[in-house]
Amino acid sequence: MRKKLIAGNWKMNGSLVANEILIKSLLAGVGTPVCQVALCVPAAYLAQCHSLLNGSGIDLGAQDVSQHEVGAFTGEISCAMLKEFGARYCLVGHSERRQYHFETDSVVALKAQRALASGITPIVCVGETLAEREAGRTEEVVKRQLAAVIHANGHCISEIVLAYEPVWAIGTGKTASAEQAQQVHAVLRAQLKAASSQADRIRLLYGGSMNAANAAQLLAQADIDGGLIGGASLKAPDFLSIIASVN
Ligand code: PGA
Repeated sequence: MRKKLIAGNWKMNGSLVANEILIKSLLAGVGTPVCQVALCVPAAYLAQCHSLLNGSGIDLGAQDVSQHEVGAFTGEISCAMLKEFGARYCLVGHSERRQYHFETDSVVALKAQRALASGITPIVCVGETLAEREAGRTEEVVKRQLAAVIHANGHCISEIVLAYEPVWAIGTGKTASAEQAQQVHAVLRAQLKAASSQADRIRLLYGGSMNAANAAQLLAQADIDGGLIGGASLKAPDFLSIIASVN
């Protein structure tokens, strides 16, 4: 049985004051959830969030990491640095990184590999654009993105978390229907099964305008093992009600 994971992706939002208010509200309201909960915060706030979350039931995650181990890579942050601040997870290949920072499938695969080698669980993001969906290319695109990560990581693939985030649903208020999401998750699960005998362990998250109103239906699907939540993770009541909708 896969334990569900609800992960917040704060993106480039927050401030020292706002983070403290948000985390304190989450800790006050979260109780003992049946799922795992994580917050992927901006790198600049890892230290602050680490000390606020330390010892709580909420795990810390980063939003990106370098594919390199150490050295002359100005502006980059290594896995070893993330580990020093208690990061358990790291988003890898978010569509905003692919789109605005030109991350290729092979860079994403290397980042996942580096994270796994460092004991950080990569949350690998895949997803098609609206044009790709309309052209009937959804499966081809997500399978290509996942294949690169499988190829680079071999049997370690069972240690990743995979997030299906249709690009057209991110931050737009347009959620994939539960059926649309489950259909893609089933394709990804089958691809993982062909690569690993442990594929049943891998958590597949859905992301893209998940909110308090649609979470329960999405999370009830057979292959949806949690959510990656952007906008709604910035408001404590919304994020808490998504957590509460896991059963
Ligand atoms: P959203 O973002 O929930 O605001 O659509 C999700 C994500 O980009 O991870």
